[in-house]
Amino acid sequence: MFFPKPEVVKRAHIKNYEEVYKYSITHPEEFWADAAKELSWFKPWKQVLHWQYPYARWFVDGETNIVYNCLDRWLKNDRKNQLALLWVGQDLEVKKYTYEQLNREVCQLANALRSLGVKKGDRVTIYLPKIPEQIISMLACAKIGAIHSVVYSGFSFEALKTRIEDAQAKVIITANSYPYKNKIINSLEKTLQAIKDCPSVESVIIVNRISERVKIPEDIFSKINFYQWTELLSKQDTLCSTQIMNANDPLFILYTSGTTGKPKGVVHSHGGYMVGVYLTSKLVFDLKENDILFSTADPGWITGHSYMTYGPLLNGITTLIYESVPDYPHPGRWWEVIEKFRPTIFYTTPTAIRALIRYGEDTPSKYDLSSLRILGSVGEPINPSAWLWFYKNIGRESNLPIMDTWWQTETGMHIITPLPCVPLKPGSCFKPFFGVVADVVDENGQSVGKNKEGYLVLKTPWPAMLLDLWQNPQKYRETYFEKIKKKTKKFLYFTGDSAKIDDDGYFWIIGRNDDVIKVSGHRLGSAEIESALVANQKVAEAAVIGKPHPVKGESIKAFIILKKAIQPSEDLKKELNLNVRMFIGPIASIDEIEFVEKLPKTRSGKIMRRVLKAQELQLPVGDISTLED
Ligand code: WT7
Repeated sequence: MFFPKPEVVKRAHIKNYEEVYKYSITHPEEFWADAAKELSWFKPWKQVLHWQYPYARWFVDGETNIVYNCLDRWLKNDRKNQLALLWVGQDLEVKKYTYEQLNREVCQLANALRSLGVKKGDRVTIYLPKIPEQIISMLACAKIGAIHSVVYSGFSFEALKTRIEDAQAKVIITANSYPYKNKIINSLEKTLQAIKDCPSVESVIIVNRISERVKIPEDIFSKINFYQWTELLSKQDTLCSTQIMNANDPLFILYTSGTTGKPKGVVHSHGGYMVGVYLTSKLVFDLKENDILFSTADPGWITGHSYMTYGPLLNGITTLIYESVPDYPHPGRWWEVIEKFRPTIFYTTPTAIRALIRYGEDTPSKYDLSSLRILGSVGEPINPSAWLWFYKNIGRESNLPIMDTWWQTETGMHIITPLPCVPLKPGSCFKPFFGVVADVVDENGQSVGKNKEGYLVLKTPWPAMLLDLWQNPQKYRETYFEKIKKKTKKFLYFTGDSAKIDDDGYFWIIGRNDDVIKVSGHRLGSAEIESALVANQKVAEAAVIGKPHPVKGESIKAFIILKKAIQPSEDLKKELNLNVRMFIGPIASIDEIEFVEKLPKTRSGKIMRRVLKAQELQLPVGDISTLED
């Protein structure tokens, strides 16, 4: 156990976790209503929580807009001159936006979107690299009540296309091209390929991250209007009214991988999401007015929504964004950014930590990291040795608390997480956040008891929980509420993770139990990768599993049955890997391919990935009574 320093507890918003937790779960509605009252509402809610299986609705009939709370309200006081966004490019170019300046650009883009006919409820796809315009775009959409769908810039055009089509997006915001290490990535080319057959798209706005302008083949895209960001914005007013939103109106869709071939559109709200993200940012990172939060995520993922964009701005602090990767042009780049820009909170992933460990302790020791006060980890289980390295080399053993925050795209906010005032165990994400009851259960929903592995479930709703899956309520119900057999309609949310609770009530996350693979913290579905593989004419069948990997957490192994007369070869392996990269993106690169004659299946023909995995890792195979052969 690592106990917090008395100074840390003294300055923390929360000094006694257990006491506040007890109150929060006996009075959840009062607890969350108090948090909501720290924010501004156009109209108060009539009911804090309404649960009707399978939907929880928070702050019912309340009216607000998350952007009003991120921007508008700070303009009324000195906070308007504080830095909202501090952006550092790969070449250390700096762009600074105070709250007032950020608001101005957001208003201009919001007016521009309105001029293009974007109305409340319309979808806008944001396919941008990590540049200020990415955040400005999200806020501008939310301001006018449009629903943003941010697609990670590393996704391929196929993946982008699926997401545009599913959301039926009217407008796409993209970049011409951008630097990534020593390469230049052409986003516009990918965007054009994606929108060729997307009739919903009316307009495309192009940000010139790199100075040259790209020519648009107007003949192919005669039905789509193209605009240059700077030109479009220069014509717009810097004032724009903020749309009044119902607390349960959708704020954004974020696509994530599940157990089927198609990604799911997780929908979050203006009201509940805002309250949950506001409070967790404030208490977990112990935010005070002058804090600078450096998260290494990308707004293409949920962390970039909740703790790079909305959380920091709702708390009126500065979000520090570094455009590129930790080890380019040299392995000390993140530490250099910390020395130079002096963030107080540093939030990253176990994969990044493990990758940096390989460069040795000498690298971080050359830099002044003394501005840091709190460290954070997210995305996958952090192994105790990586935790200890982080503690020693980045925390400099000066006892900086490490917040190992467990949550998901669906939860929107931290769910099982330490607070700076609690004793930590390396590798455990501590206990549930306020108002949340979590447990580890068997397939019938019965608690398994201490130190036993089981399914991680949440037994109470929380304000930032997903509203639904975009246009797929049935999938929503099945995925989160029907996996566990139970007789009542009581709230029981299935996380898809396996976990254990120890004698002290600390949670230990083991990993996913549902064919979702976490490669470098990125969520990929086995089925998605398999569909990319079987799209190749030479492949008859494919099965994909995740295997433990010392740096990436998990790596991908594919078992392939080739069509008759097709010969296995190294070249074919390369070709298949390329197929997957085209279909999903470089994050889905396959590490190992094995050509096989047969795959383990159930009598109904479903591939049993669990059996493949057990065999591969030499683990007990478990129940194989349904195995056909
Ligand atoms: C899955 C959710 C939450 C933001 C980024 C990932 C795993 C997440 C932790 C943690 C162990 C973790 C879980 C979860 N996960 N945080 N601190 N310790 N595992 O969001 O892509 O929706 O993935 O990430 O398996 O279910 P996501």
